[in-house]
Amino acid sequence: MGAFYFYFSLTFLAISAITNYFLRKFQNLPPTPWLPPLPIIGHLYLLKRPLHKSLAKISARYGPVQLLQIGSRRVLVVSSPSAAEECLTKNDIIFANRPRQLLAGKYLGYNYDSLVYAPYGDHWRNLRRVTTLEILSSHRLREFEPIRADEVRLMIRKLYRSWSGEAVEVQVNAMLVDLTLNAVMRMVSGKRYYYGKDDILTDEEKEKAHRFQEIVEEVFCAMSVSHIGDYLPILRWLGVSKLEKQLIALQAKRDLFMKELVEEIRCSMKNSGKRNMIQVLLSLQQTEPECYTDEMIRSIMLTILAGGTHTSICTLEWAMSLLVNNPSVLKKAHNEINSHVGHDRCVEESDMVNLPYLACIIKETLRMYPAGPLLPHESSKDCMVSGYHVPRGTMLLVNAWGIQNDPNIWGDPETFRPERFEGVEVYGDGFKLLPFGFGRRSCPGENMAMRMVGLALGSLIQCFEWGRTSKAKVDMNGGTGIALAKTIHLVAMCQPRPIMLNLLSQL
Ligand code: HEM
Repeated sequence: MGAFYFYFSLTFLAISAITNYFLRKFQNLPPTPWLPPLPIIGHLYLLKRPLHKSLAKISARYGPVQLLQIGSRRVLVVSSPSAAEECLTKNDIIFANRPRQLLAGKYLGYNYDSLVYAPYGDHWRNLRRVTTLEILSSHRLREFEPIRADEVRLMIRKLYRSWSGEAVEVQVNAMLVDLTLNAVMRMVSGKRYYYGKDDILTDEEKEKAHRFQEIVEEVFCAMSVSHIGDYLPILRWLGVSKLEKQLIALQAKRDLFMKELVEEIRCSMKNSGKRNMIQVLLSLQQTEPECYTDEMIRSIMLTILAGGTHTSICTLEWAMSLLVNNPSVLKKAHNEINSHVGHDRCVEESDMVNLPYLACIIKETLRMYPAGPLLPHESSKDCMVSGYHVPRGTMLLVNAWGIQNDPNIWGDPETFRPERFEGVEVYGDGFKLLPFGFGRRSCPGENMAMRMVGLALGSLIQCFEWGRTSKAKVDMNGGTGIALAKTIHLVAMCQPRPIMLNLLSQL
């Protein structure tokens, strides 16, 4: 009986593989792995975590354009610069939608109404216009420069004060969370929510800080897992709804927090002086209330908070981990900062143009560990990619990680070598490097991210020596969620650089 089932299954697999092959040929669909999709799960059984690595392996084996059936979704996986370029330039409008029916989009993205999850159309265009022109424009980012500089100074001062003559162990992720969340929240609302142990707080401030930190932790947690229910809706019906309940509760908490914050700022608003992001939007609301609704303001602010912090924190933590594993790179960066900035003043955002090696370190970090390893889009019409027919409603995953770590494109891709970017000016170099995506849905926060990451990393390098806690190299495994975070957070040894002691003691 056992032998019968074995041969029956084998025949079934062979017949479905052959039928699949000829059906695809007939419809001119993109190629697919020769192992056929199974009922309900499709090709899911071929995939492991992290998804970007698993998809890169499939592409290396079967080709850079693959059409997979992942659970209930038809997914086009693109892993070559030329196919990525075709999707994000010639077919950019067609692929300008985000995938439908994502748990995060429904529950954290205001039912697909927020900038990240809204389908391409008038509403998305309006959100994108307001965000890029009013909130993240170069002019606005320059206005907020003193906030970022102040937060970086506070982080450096805190680190210096924790030093008692010997190198100290630093929980790098926690330090970067404090820095980034405080900087972004001060730009958003003028308020900080992460304090040092010497800060004296009222009970109300303590309660708000606690509430805020809890929300941030839960959001980061939601971003660190991939939701399998996005591909297997059956699991959603069968009781994975526990996750849905968590997301509903989290969204209610974040929305309420932001509602109270917007209300508080509205009540204390003056028309003059420097304004935070919420004040900018509330002033616009006064002239165009039907466009700048309260819900839109909350949605944009929560988008900036979630999209703008986790990604920068991940990038900074990867960069620091790479530096402690590669002391010669750290030394070269020290030398560059010594000669262009010196030790009488702190690094500033305007120094970045004179610190090309630091810029190369950031590019190389984003190449090896892009915070968004897969760019998720969806086609709104039938189109052609690499000569194949791609039906409407197909989810597109551009595997940025796969392209940026492909040994046929990048020599020795697993080696951290910032020098490979020396003399290379732009990101869009033949679509080999896409850490911020490309086209209509590309990252609107790139400028802010590069300022924040450059300033923080430059300052940490300028002021301190960094090392590992043991001889063993720092673990470089990456996460399993939407964003590429480190699996094990970095703990590093830190002590002030002797030439910086004078300046550090004055901060
Ligand atoms: C190192 C930091 C960052 C990285 C690596 C990064 C990367 C990305 C990537 C890969 C995408 C998707 C692009 C695509 O689908 O084609 C994206 C979208 C987005 N990013 Fe970033 N990002 C960073 C920082 C920021 C910051 C600081 C903000 C805001 C202040 C931000 C806001 C957004 C938003 C709103 C979207 C969605 C845009 C849309 O769908 O229209 N990001 N980002």
